[in-house]
Amino acid sequence: MASYSSSLVRDECLEVVDNQHLTSSISILSLHAPYFASVLRAGQFLEIRTSDSFIPLLRRPFSIHRVVGEYIEIMVKVFGIGSRQLYHARKGDRFQTLAPLGNTFSYERDDFDVALLVSGGIGVAPMPMLEEALRARGKVVYNFVGARTAEEVITRYLSNVFVATDDGSLGYKGNVVALLSEHLEQFRGARIRVFGCGSNRMLDALCKLCNARHLDCEVSLESMMGCGIGICYGCPIRVRNANGHVRTELLCQYGSVVDARTIVFDDI
Ligand SMILES: Cc1cc2nc3c(=O)[nH]c(=O)nc-3n(C[C@H](O)[C@H](O)[C@H](O)COP(=O)(O)OP(=O)(O)OC[C@H]3O[C@@H](n4cnc5c(N)ncnc54)[C@H](O)[C@@H]3O)c2cc1C
Ligand code: FES
Repeated sequence: MASYSSSLVRDECLEVVDNQHLTSSISILSLHAPYFASVLRAGQFLEIRTSDSFIPLLRRPFSIHRVVGEYIEIMVKVFGIGSRQLYHARKGDRFQTLAPLGNTFSYERDDFDVALLVSGGIGVAPMPMLEEALRARGKVVYNFVGARTAEEVITRYLSNVFVATDDGSLGYKGNVVALLSEHLEQFRGARIRVFGCGSNRMLDALCKLCNARHLDCEVSLESMMGCGIGICYGCPIRVRNANGHVRTELLCQYGSVVDARTIVFDDI
């Protein structure tokens, strides 16, 4: 996990240039953002004010999905009011946006050759940018994508994809961590690193699997993030150091990407 300079953070008003509805609850929001496009890195997130009114009062965090020239793309899944406002955004709408926030996935490390990207549900959002960064450094990339059902499987801009669905309507029937577990044998002997994003429940299972198999793994955790800059104290997580000492960190400052060996999931 590479930290990133907070001096790069800006609060800008971004214009929507496109909003492509992929499903009845997931869309790709394209925003004109020349500055953010030049500084955002894979794994980082933005805090978006989804409305000019006070509803919702707080901004909402979204991962950077892709950078295309001067434009950035956000993959939005509707959960509540804020994400619904973004899902229904129209060309020309403008959103106050704080970025770049958080650390990055550690795609620049040279201690692995094969990257296994494991995502559940909307956790697939940061993976295209991560895959692009990994490929640019000569890494071999495989994707393990999990969703509840076939229509929620989104694999755009991902390669070497293995799919798992809870209901078995596409690919492996079961969760994506079980799917990964079944495929690990084929990577025996390779220098691999696992990157995960999804619900904390899924990431707990992923970290347990990787820790048990002594695989290097880092995951982008989720939390309610009201500010993204360490002010609201809404995003505490517990991490354990090498001595076993447990301490509290703010996910927006410490992560959102965290080493699998250090996370204390019981409290999340
Ligand atoms: C670092 C980070 C990156 C994220 N990246 C993305 C992304 O790229 N795309 C995306 O669609 N979402 C992403 N999320 C999740 C997104 O921020 C939340 O879905 C959003 O804040 C919910 O706001 P809301 O107003 O729509 O829902 P609210 O009205 O605040 O909540 C509605 C319901 O959704 C539940 N909920 C709220 N947040 C989450 C959550 N994180 N996970 C599961 N359930 C939740 C609430 O408990 C509640 O039941 C990210 C979250 C974090 C922390
Ligand atoms: S989101 Fe406010 S302190 Fe982390």
